[in-house]
Amino acid sequence: MNREDFPMLNKEYIYLDNGATTWKPNCVVEKINDYYTKYTANAHRGDYDLSLIVDKEYEEARDIVRDFIHAKSRQEIVFTSGATESLNMIVNGFFKHIIEPGDEIIISESEHASNVLPWFLLGKTNGAIIKYCPLDENHYVTLSNLKKVITKNTKVISLAYITNVIGDLRPIKEICEFAHQNNIFVVVDGAQSVPHIKTDVQDLDCDFLAFSGHKLCGPTGIGVLYGKYELLNTMEPQKLGGGMNESFDNVDEVYLKELPTRLEAGTPNIEGAIGLGSAIEYIASIGLEKIHDHELNLRNYLVSKLKQIEHINIINEESDSGIIAIDVEDIFAQDVAVYLNKYKVCVRAGNHCAKILKNEVGIKNTVRISIYFYNTKEEMDYVADLLKDKNRIINEMLM
Ligand code: ALA
Repeated sequence: MNREDFPMLNKEYIYLDNGATTWKPNCVVEKINDYYTKYTANAHRGDYDLSLIVDKEYEEARDIVRDFIHAKSRQEIVFTSGATESLNMIVNGFFKHIIEPGDEIIISESEHASNVLPWFLLGKTNGAIIKYCPLDENHYVTLSNLKKVITKNTKVISLAYITNVIGDLRPIKEICEFAHQNNIFVVVDGAQSVPHIKTDVQDLDCDFLAFSGHKLCGPTGIGVLYGKYELLNTMEPQKLGGGMNESFDNVDEVYLKELPTRLEAGTPNIEGAIGLGSAIEYIASIGLEKIHDHELNLRNYLVSKLKQIEHINIINEESDSGIIAIDVEDIFAQDVAVYLNKYKVCVRAGNHCAKILKNEVGIKNTVRISIYFYNTKEEMDYVADLLKDKNRIINEMLM
């Protein structure tokens, strides 16, 4: 679908590493190019026409993000460098100030490092206890399993909406409802979900959401931190500098700006934000429902083919996304990726930054195929065909 919009799709590659990053449509490339060739200036600092165009474009991008995730207010949308920075800000700018020794934080073993390591650090600095929600037989989080680990000390539940290896969709709305009845905050890592399924932060009622631009056809180095206004408004800025302060005279007289500018110190990633705005408009014009349906159709098709291959073990036969993690019997995951690369097929091999998932699935490294809307049935046939002969993989990877 829409393949003609992607300059990279004119090349010979079969790109199945969309969980890592996505390819960019012409409209995003052109939008960034326009900023550098037609109206380059800084944002929020100039009184001349070019600078005012930049302000307009940058703030319009914020409105596009607000609409896309249905936030109540544009002040709840902070531009960051990506989901990783957003999650670190949530932990260090907000939770660090309210978490006390013995407070419990619940994550799962299938979280990405960005939703694990900041919490580990908070455990060390604040004495918080990190607990894991048990996963079911398909490696899914269920509300009933989550309830088993919630206690009166639970302060935060922090989960990906869709995980980056299993690709399971979590019941975030139900989790938020239960959590809030028990005064527990919910943080959502949306890196693998926002590009694929409709996200409505008001409907979900999550407290915070983090996601990256580059996984939804936008530029790298730009991401979003969403937080409910009353929470975000108490967040301590992790970066201090120009653009975020109203005035200062001495140490006791520093006045910071309102949200969201207060949390965006320094010259922002202007081309990133406007490129992200363009990417979101593009994705929205196709429609997330259509995108997700296409991904699931391709996934089911490829899974049905891979299931017929004896030496392939599918780690996540059940999944709600276009992610398929496989193990090829007796062959190291990276060797499989190198073999596929000979045929210009791009996949990711390894632990995919979900380093404690091995406790759950019993295997450290997998080959991950991650599909987006521009992938085709023919590409699935091609990959399945390349994987069907184990001896061919072994022989060719040695060459
Ligand atoms: N988080 C990205 C992935 O899953 C990089 O590949």
